[in-house]
Amino acid sequence: DTTINIEPAALTFSAVAKNKNDVVTVPAGYTVSVLYRCGDPISASTPAYKNDGTDTGFSTRAGDNHDALHWFGLAASGNTRDETNSTRGLLVMNHEYIFQTYLHPNGPTSVNGARPESEALKEIEAHGVSVVEVSQAANGAWSYNQSGALNRRITPNTPTAFSGPVRGSSLLFTAYSPTGVAGRGTINNCANGYTPWGTSLTCEENWAGYFRRPTSADNARRSAKEVTALARYGVTSSSGNYGWATVVASDSTNTTFRRWDAQATGASATADFRNEPNQYGWVLEMDPYDPSTTPRKRTALGRMNHEGCWPGAFVAGRKPAWYMGDDARNEYLYKFVSATAWSASDAGATDRLAMGDKYLDSGTLYVAKFAADGTGTWLPLVFGQNGLTASNATYAFADQADVLTHCRLAADIVGATKMDRPEWTAVNPVTGEMYLTLTNNSQRTSANTDAANPRSYQDAPNFSYANHNGHILRLRESGDTTEATAFRWDIYAFGAGSDLNAQNINLSNLDASNDFSSPDGLWFGRATNASGQGNPLLWIQTDDGAFTDQTNNQMLAAIPGTVGDGAMRTVTNFNAAGASTTTTTIVGKTPGASLKRFLVGPVQCEVTGVDSTPDGRTLFVNIQHPGEDGSISNITSNWPASQQTGSAPGNRPRSATVVIQRTDGGIVGL
Ligand code: FEO
Ligand code: CA
Ligand code: CA
Ligand code: CA
Repeated sequence: DTTINIEPAALTFSAVAKNKNDVVTVPAGYTVSVLYRCGDPISASTPAYKNDGTDTGFSTRAGDNHDALHWFGLAASGNTRDETNSTRGLLVMNHEYIFQTYLHPNGPTSVNGARPESEALKEIEAHGVSVVEVSQAANGAWSYNQSGALNRRITPNTPTAFSGPVRGSSLLFTAYSPTGVAGRGTINNCANGYTPWGTSLTCEENWAGYFRRPTSADNARRSAKEVTALARYGVTSSSGNYGWATVVASDSTNTTFRRWDAQATGASATADFRNEPNQYGWVLEMDPYDPSTTPRKRTALGRMNHEGCWPGAFVAGRKPAWYMGDDARNEYLYKFVSATAWSASDAGATDRLAMGDKYLDSGTLYVAKFAADGTGTWLPLVFGQNGLTASNATYAFADQADVLTHCRLAADIVGATKMDRPEWTAVNPVTGEMYLTLTNNSQRTSANTDAANPRSYQDAPNFSYANHNGHILRLRESGDTTEATAFRWDIYAFGAGSDLNAQNINLSNLDASNDFSSPDGLWFGRATNASGQGNPLLWIQTDDGAFTDQTNNQMLAAIPGTVGDGAMRTVTNFNAAGASTTTTTIVGKTPGASLKRFLVGPVQCEVTGVDSTPDGRTLFVNIQHPGEDGSISNITSNWPASQQTGSAPGNRPRSATVVIQRTDGGIVGL
């Protein structure tokens, strides 16, 4: 689009210094306000949150551990979708997991090994997704509407429908849905995506650990094929993260808690809960404008530790695509290409989930393979092709439902590239290039580096050889089309402390104004400048343990370059015995002043989740798990109370959404 300025003017804000303060710090000329906190009530009858562990009723409160968020515009009044309005809308956000300690007066309890029902219910309902109405007053201040008609919580107990090729598969047969067409809820929702027809995509990431499945007992009751699949997906906890399966429910037929015991103890999949883990690991599509609708799991997009699901450009007549990371060490990058070419008029459809049926239920799931010369290919995961057959000796696939439910195994077989924990994807709206955060990888050694995952180094205080600081890869599709099966790639930036060796670690020459580690959240801005030109900045959020000796987690803004603006580079890695190996990679142009630290979060938080109003003048950012290393007797952060009152000793920390605005009302970041 020639009306869009690919190289906007320099970043105008002054970089924020690294710090360990217990507030959100933004540049001079900007303000921060707290909008929506864990526990805040979202129905008229729900009482205010006391934040002392005694509160109940999380199905009508903000959940915990705010993660990805997305703005869906509303008309000035009523419940009508209006994507042009920048003063009233819905925020749809994920509540990834819980800070279990602070949900209870004195932390979690159990009685004779059983979790109390009320505690477990609170913990379950503090997970999931929020839909909450927000608006801006004439004085510029933002607030959420406790009584918003479209306010909604989706929790692990909310009914969902299965859609796409796995619907009706025996892999989804459960006591709840003996024909494998329905399920309950969503869990560990991390990053997100959207559709142009006005729906939200939420992604189920670290779901496996919620299930109890003592493997030594259960494996003997399962087929060898089932055991292989369960092991590949890590359904191996002997207790489940929070022990929910131990609850002795007041209603003996209530399966709310027993379903978290995934052992094959009954006569069939409909007599026990063996297939419950197959209900998770999907992308869930929901319509934020209609709380009466049942969210649909889009099984064509595969089952994994779904981090996010971000679309490429929607071009009339061309099949759209969504990019998806599987966040675990040595997992893969995927792309789903719809079978249906895009019709722009579908953006205004009123039956929005029917549009999801049209575009998201049939298509091709691909996995990425990166070559050392800066090219790459998308390998299709299609039953009957590339060894994905009933006669495969590693894993005998029964059908396409099996391939999609176990796409990690399929990707192993086709020879995809094992990545350094693929987290978020984002797509440059100007160039169409896809950016991917590879957050870090404690299992990347000098023996298994490759061009796309080239670093393994020692970084005190970690004292082990790994990719400690992560990197951001970018990819340009052949022919600039979402339908492409080949691409070019390079590495936009390597995370590193600016004090680290520039030859082999700080390969992007980061300095004190922009050094970062463990990139995670990633987003291109919606902002347009005064002339109506797109001026998209790349926003990078961090989730890091290796850099927290120097700073709390942060968010940076960048004017990105383009694939191929840098050069080939040879990196020297070492193993623990001191033996060196070299790996050649492709490093983008040094970011320099085109990358600056915009925000630093409070103590022990992760900065994750960002969107803006369409005019770019209000930025929404989520602060997750402040004070995560604390306890009832040692509260280590008082945020957000610390931000709101200046000093708030004794206050339990809460995940929360903040609003960031420029004091002159301008576009944030430009
Ligand atoms: Fe929930 Fe991979 O971050
Ligand atoms: Ca993440
Ligand atoms: Ca992370
Ligand atoms: Ca997180």
